[in-house]
Formats: sequence, structure tokens, C-alpha cells
Amino acid sequence: MSIQEEIRILKERLDAVLVAHFYQRDEIVEIADITGDSLELAKRAMGSPRSLVVFCGVGFMGQSVKILAPQKRVVMPRLACCSMARMIDSAYFDESIQKLEEYGLLKEAILPLAYINSSAEVKAKVGAMGGLVCTSANAVKIMQKAQESGKKIFFLPDRCLGQNLAKQGGQKSAVLGSSSKEEVLGADIICYDGFCSVHQLFTPQDIEFYRQKFPDILIAVHPECDPSVVERADFVGSTSQIITFVKNLPLEQKVAVGTEYNLVNRLREKNTYVLSSTKPECPTMNETTLEDILECLKAFERGEPLNEITLEEEVRLEAHLALSRMMELS
Ligand code: 13P
Ligand code: SF4
Repeated sequence: MSIQEEIRILKERLDAVLVAHFYQRDEIVEIADITGDSLELAKRAMGSPRSLVVFCGVGFMGQSVKILAPQKRVVMPRLACCSMARMIDSAYFDESIQKLEEYGLLKEAILPLAYINSSAEVKAKVGAMGGLVCTSANAVKIMQKAQESGKKIFFLPDRCLGQNLAKQGGQKSAVLGSSSKEEVLGADIICYDGFCSVHQLFTPQDIEFYRQKFPDILIAVHPECDPSVVERADFVGSTSQIITFVKNLPLEQKVAVGTEYNLVNRLREKNTYVLSSTKPECPTMNETTLEDILECLKAFERGEPLNEITLEEEVRLEAHLALSRMMELS
């Protein structure tokens, strides 16, 4: 029996749904019941009638399902952690707020807005301060809503997404720790200094290279790319939005895409290029294998669950506040 068949049979027996982010390896995306960007996965895994969620992605994604649907059991064949999410923990969050207070901002005048690429503990801090969460798919809308509060936005952890949102809205941004106190106080959006190491690989020179080679090429990038890249692109969007954009192009239209390799590689057979001379692979997303999924299901059946997501109820409830505020708006 093939490993895919074994997984399918065990999945049925255990009432499990197999969920995979678009950055996962092809063989995993092929057998998954649900694929999507981080927003779609959170929504669809939460709404699935299955009691067990087998999540192939990075840790914060599995945690999001557990926060939203605590009655479900969530296991991850690999407990891989997004390097950007690891750049901020609850202690760094507290230090950042303290720094802003030292600059003269009142805590009550700050609204934290967390990118979904952050831990449950950080989301709990955000939720407890009245803040909310966004993903790359709904960031523009959620940022507009957050700014209706009249408060200063503290955006974390991705400084690039924060800067890109500010530029798009014609607003000022500053980066806590590297901008001056005056710049921070004068900014509409104050960003934490985190970034995605994969999306940092794309440069304006890469865009130049393709535009010179193919003058009519289009450039599509993820908003985790540096602002110098985003401002030169023809299209900016979440992983799902990039897929829709590229798939709707005429086949003869060339497009260079600035996001993770696995996704770009399976987009279209012809006229799709990876916007980098370095292979932009997310190491943690690439860790999960079919063997890991099978082992994870077998371990669950033996009553020895592997990498099960568990959260302290207090953390879950406060993180739920932040995530559900996003869900209501998106
Ligand atoms: P999406 O929300 O577009 O799926 O992005 C998640 C991510 O980690 C991108 O690097
Ligand atoms: Fe995290 Fe970047 Fe990997 Fe996305 S691509 S999961 S942001 S490290």
C-alpha cells in the first residue's frame, strides 16, 4: 500500500482533516483536504466537522486553530516555527510597550496590531490590550479599522508589512529600536523590528534584472517583501491572492513572483519565474514529509500524540479576543 493510501485510511479512522499551507512540499499539498493561505486555513480548519486537525505548516498556524476551536485536537507532523514569529515573545512585547511609554505615549493611546505570524502568548498580550490580529490577506482592511480607534498603531512583528501598509495609506511609519524617538512619536504606524528571512531575499535588482530581460513582464510579490521591492511591483498580495492573480493572466504573459519557492514552482508550467537568483525556500515549511504525517497519525492512534498543540486557557482566551476581533471584520 502506498504511503498516501495509508495516510488516507488512518485519517478516516481517526476522523481527521489534513490541512496544509501553500508553502508545503508538493506531495503534501496534493493529499491535503484543505489548502490555503493562513487566513483561509484558520477559518476552514475551525469550521471543519472533523475532531482532529493534522496541520502541516508552522507553529502559529496550528495554534490559531486551537485558539479558535479549543474543542478540536490539533497535531502537527513537524512542530516547525516561523523564524519571524520567533522574533518577538511576550517579554519583548512588554519591553516594546514600556519603551513607547518612556517616549511619552500612554498605554491607553496605543493599539497593538499583530500579524498572524506571532505566538499565542504574544497574541494574548495584544488581546489583553484591546488589540487585534491581521493576515496578509486582510491587513489593509484591518489596519483601516484599527486606525478608526484614533490610537497609535503598534504593528508587530513584521516591519516590512507595517511599512508597506503605511506607504499604501499615505502615512508615516517608524521602526522601534532603529528610528529616532521623534520619528516614532511622529509616525502613524510604529513597527516592531521583525522580518521574514525568506521574503528578504527579493531585491529591487531582481526586479530590474527581469524588467530588462523581458520588458513586458509583470512582478507579483508578497507584502512581507521589503518596501523597496513592493513599491516596484505590479501586484502585491497574500499567497492566495498571488495564486489568483497569476492564474488569471493569459498564458503568454510572463510573470516573476516574489514569494516562497514551492508555491511559485507549482503555479503555472509556462512563463512563471522565481523573482530571485537564490532559491527562496522557507526552511521550516519544508521540514514536513509524508513520513512525518503517517507517523503523527499512528502516534495519535496509539494514544501517544506527537506535537499536540496545547495552550494555557488564560492565554487562549486572551489570544482569542485578538483573533476573533479580526474574524468579525474579515
Ligand atoms: P499568507 O498569510 O499569505 O499565507 O502568508 C503566510 C506566510 O507565512 C508568508 O510568509
Ligand atoms: Fe515565516 Fe517567512 Fe516562512 Fe512565512 S516564509 S512561515 S514568514 S519564515
